[in-house]
Amino acid sequence: MVVELASSHPGFADPVYRARRNDIAALALNYRPGTPIPAAEYTAQEHEIWAVVSRELAVKHDRYATAEYLEGAARLGLPRDRIPQLEEVSRALEPLTGFRYVPAAGLVPLRDFYGVLADGLFHSTQYIRHHSVPFYTPEPDVIHEVIGHANALAHDRYAALYRLAGAAARRVESEEALEFVSKVFWFTLEFGVMRERGELRAYGAGILSSYGEIEEFRGMDIRPLDVAAMGTTHYDITKYQDVLFQADSLQHLEEVVGDFWATCDDDSIAKLVATAV
Ligand code: TRP
Ligand code: FE
Repeated sequence: MVVELASSHPGFADPVYRARRNDIAALALNYRPGTPIPAAEYTAQEHEIWAVVSRELAVKHDRYATAEYLEGAARLGLPRDRIPQLEEVSRALEPLTGFRYVPAAGLVPLRDFYGVLADGLFHSTQYIRHHSVPFYTPEPDVIHEVIGHANALAHDRYAALYRLAGAAARRVESEEALEFVSKVFWFTLEFGVMRERGELRAYGAGILSSYGEIEEFRGMDIRPLDVAAMGTTHYDITKYQDVLFQADSLQHLEEVVGDFWATCDDDSIAKLVATAV
């Protein structure tokens, strides 16, 4: 499977980029679970994109990321000057929280993507964003998957939340309930923000991998953490997220969202949907 690029993608009109992205994505097609993740031979220009984005993000993370995300990043110790191979990320992460990376060619069906989180597996793209727009990309890339997610997955408390989301995705039966669970994931582990030390900080991987979006989140429509609202709020994946949900603390997130994922089923979700309208 090779996912087509939308015409709004910065690499859409660049045939060299498209071929490159498809070649790297193809590595995932031949992947067999339990074997090492095939290495991508990145070009000097691709390593340079990682280096530029890493440098920009490191400064912004100190200012805008939550304490536990920063602790995870310190534990994981990602390279700043080159793109790490997914196998290398996976080997560094596994002794910390048990999470391992699995290469993905592009979009993975919701049920698989979320379900295997319960087993400590994280699907990841391997290609990197287009060089013309390093501060934001409209599709997940290796910078998002690794800088955004692996640093969070390196902290026990965030890793536990990812696992609970996976367990919830496996437990629910209907597509509607699965979509609700995935939207709660979107508004928390992808785009969640949190009060900390009197300030608004981000723990969501989608904010933390974009040095454009990370400068904007404080000015967005910030709403109180509410599972029924998150599970039913519409979002547009192609632009900066303008509605965000704020936890009062990591403990608050664990109590509200962790407990929801730990216990939800099709019936409890149907009731939440009914209260949200
Ligand atoms: N915008 C993110 C970045 O620049 C990447 C991204 C695209 C993404 N689509 C997403 C992140 C959906 C989370 C969810 O790093
Ligand atoms: Fe993501």
